[in-house]
Amino acid sequence: MKKIDKLIKKEVVRQQNSINLIPSENYVSQKVLDAIGSPLTNKYSEGYPGKRYYPGNEIYDKIEMYVQNLALKAFRLNQKNWSVNIQPYSGSPANLAVYLALMSPGDKLLGFSLTSGGHLTHGHFVNYSGKLFKVRQYSVNPKTGLLDYDEIYKLAKKFKPKLIVSGLTSYPRKIDFKKFGQIAKKVGAYHLADISHIAGLILANLHPTPFSYSDVVTTTTHKTLRGPRGALIFMRKHLEEKINKSVFPGLQGGPHNNIIAGIGVMFEEALTSKFIKYQQQILKNAKVLSKELMNLGFTLWTNGTDNHLMVIDLKPLGLNGKIAEEILESANILANRNTLPGDTSPFNPTGLRLGTPAVTSRGMKEKEMLKIAKFIKELLIDQKDPKKIKEEVIRFLCKFPLPYKKWL
Ligand SMILES: Cc1ncc(COP(=O)(O)O)c(C=O)c1O
Repeated sequence: MKKIDKLIKKEVVRQQNSINLIPSENYVSQKVLDAIGSPLTNKYSEGYPGKRYYPGNEIYDKIEMYVQNLALKAFRLNQKNWSVNIQPYSGSPANLAVYLALMSPGDKLLGFSLTSGGHLTHGHFVNYSGKLFKVRQYSVNPKTGLLDYDEIYKLAKKFKPKLIVSGLTSYPRKIDFKKFGQIAKKVGAYHLADISHIAGLILANLHPTPFSYSDVVTTTTHKTLRGPRGALIFMRKHLEEKINKSVFPGLQGGPHNNIIAGIGVMFEEALTSKFIKYQQQILKNAKVLSKELMNLGFTLWTNGTDNHLMVIDLKPLGLNGKIAEEILESANILANRNTLPGDTSPFNPTGLRLGTPAVTSRGMKEKEMLKIAKFIKELLIDQKDPKKIKEEVIRFLCKFPLPYKKWL
């Protein structure tokens, strides 16, 4: 066996033997894997269907148009008003492509601060979104931990941004996209809703949709949507030309056709009742896990969750996110450190972010969430030996095999 084969096998065994609570990760189906591992990766297709800069693209045109239709159908969008670009390589370039289409360097961007639950691409100073544009960021109310829409409006009125971005990476509550849309309208800004984390919930009607209140909606495809790593940009028809040009040739070259086919398989799966039930179970599991963690003595940011993720505030335990992450990892439980409102350093955050999409994909339900909460308590509160818990974790996971038979 060659080195890379061996390493892949090792990694798949690691995935099988770990409880994955990282809310931005998931497991794709074997069918999605087949598509992204197909010879479609061999082709260049710069351009868009019917207008390519290479020959031999008949099949790719068909695939791209089919996937566009599925994407619009999945989010119940009327083709008269909305278009979708399915070529972005991932969520970060998708957001940058939108910013560069709708703003010029030096224009004003209002985004969600990282420590309050936003993403780096929402204007953080280390990211190009924070370097290329003049940025102000809204935060949550320090007392409630919640978004305060009156404060966001005041800030927007004063700052007069060209674009307001909404959406979350670690905020555990519903986002009121309607209010964001109203604020953007009042101050004459574009509204970009970045639904990367919650796209699956929105598709299943389990979170209010942003589409009626946004000019553009971006999402990654590899989180709750359970597809390959990629991204989509949904845009109002009148913005289509600008944004398509910004993706290609503005920012990217040839699309990753194998990934586009994988996104197609993802949508074929997402348009089934099984997928809706899966999203419902993600939410049920998140509710049970968050309640049980609180019963067992943990403090959660905003005392719970409305979505697929939650953040433990580790300050009462005298721990920080890095240490807690390491303790859990040594018992094969993965949850990642996260800043909480008030944290000053992303290197030393006081939160630990957990989510249920991946464990739900493995077939776990409420009963298993109670077990997972118990493991976490034993590790972080009772300070039990992680080696012993790791053995229990691996045994527990035998009942939830991953579908990757070739590798296991
Ligand atoms: C809200 C949000 N937007 C954008 C991204 C960036 O996606 P990617 O990592 O695919 O570039 C993420 C990733 O976590 C995210 O949470």
